[in-house]
Amino acid sequence: MKNRQVLLASRPQGWVSEQNFRIVETDVPHPNDGEVLIRGSYLSLDPYMRMRMDAGKSYAPPVEVGEVMVGGGVGEVMESRDPRFSKGDVVTGRLGWQLYAVVPGAGLRKVNTAGAPISTALGVIGMPGVTAWYGLMKIGEPKAGETVVVSAASGAVGSVVGQVAKIKGCRAVGIAGGPDKCRYAINELGFDACVDYKSASLESDLAAAVPNGIDIYFENVGGRVLDAILPQLNAFARIPFCGYVSEYNPGEGYGVRHLRQLLVNRARLQGFIISEHLEIWDQALKELAGWVAAGKLKYHETVTEGLENAPRAFIGMLQGKNLGKQLVRLG
Ligand SMILES: NC(=O)c1ccc[n+]([C@@H]2O[C@H](COP(=O)([O-])OP(=O)(O)OC[C@H]3O[C@@H](n4cnc5c(N)ncnc54)[C@H](OP(=O)(O)O)[C@@H]3O)[C@@H](O)[C@H]2O)c1
Repeated sequence: MKNRQVLLASRPQGWVSEQNFRIVETDVPHPNDGEVLIRGSYLSLDPYMRMRMDAGKSYAPPVEVGEVMVGGGVGEVMESRDPRFSKGDVVTGRLGWQLYAVVPGAGLRKVNTAGAPISTALGVIGMPGVTAWYGLMKIGEPKAGETVVVSAASGAVGSVVGQVAKIKGCRAVGIAGGPDKCRYAINELGFDACVDYKSASLESDLAAAVPNGIDIYFENVGGRVLDAILPQLNAFARIPFCGYVSEYNPGEGYGVRHLRQLLVNRARLQGFIISEHLEIWDQALKELAGWVAAGKLKYHETVTEGLENAPRAFIGMLQGKNLGKQLVRLG
């Protein structure tokens, strides 16, 4: 029995390439007191990992060159030296890009295997779902009849934002890359409208999609999309600032021009990091699981087979090749 790991081999200059990663084989680690050995089933690939590949100031320390890439995972307990977990439990936590992980029991959460496929613990009933719930409910504070716009609308976070906005009685408008993703948001997820940000007519398409202006803009991408949004804001609009994936490659800053709209509309823009709001996770996960079970919250997973294909899948996700939650099945 051997472990396989994906290490950060070098820091990217601009776009990530497969050469920035190295795959190694190591011994399976043993847990000490308070720790648990887990065999991963699925690895989650998330945009924040791009930032962790860079040195420099951020909300979390970078992955050092030669270290295992950080990442959430779901898997089965093989051996436990934490009394809260037993062999055979399915758990989720920060398992990293590897087949076997030893982690402190304190950082693990048991997965309800009866409710939904275990992969959903990394998506719609996991970190991205909770991120959507927190940003929309606690920062956006939606009221029935308001217009909610979300970017990266067909992705793991954005797809939940739009559907929860509908559940709360709002008009949900997505922004996504390309007509296929927009059709998916409207026809499968129930968005009222969706705008293709790759179109040359983004600004006028967006204006047409929000005839009553924008009360909540859930920000996932930044850049030109944010600039198109700002002139459409209503007075006292709220902007949960969740991510800005269009600028995760350092040095590619866009330079937003319409920031004065925040002032003239007395808008509130609030950044947040979901791992700092553990107090709402139980409530959010319960509501998300309930909506999934009731068929009110749909999800899609893009599943790549095999740890060795994780780098390629990660690069693809940053380029928008995924639909919904990007996962790697570890087999
Ligand atoms: N604050 C937090 O605690 C927190 C937690 C989780 C996630 N996030 C953030 O939430 C956002 C969405 O994450 P996710 O996991 O749901 O990822 P995702 O949407 O499933 O995947 C990333 C998507 O970003 C879009 N994208 C890539 N480059 C873009 C560009 N230049 N302009 C516009 N869109 C671009 C692509 O969709 P298109 O094909 O539509 O372009 C791609 O599919 C990210 O910014 C992420 O960092 C924040």
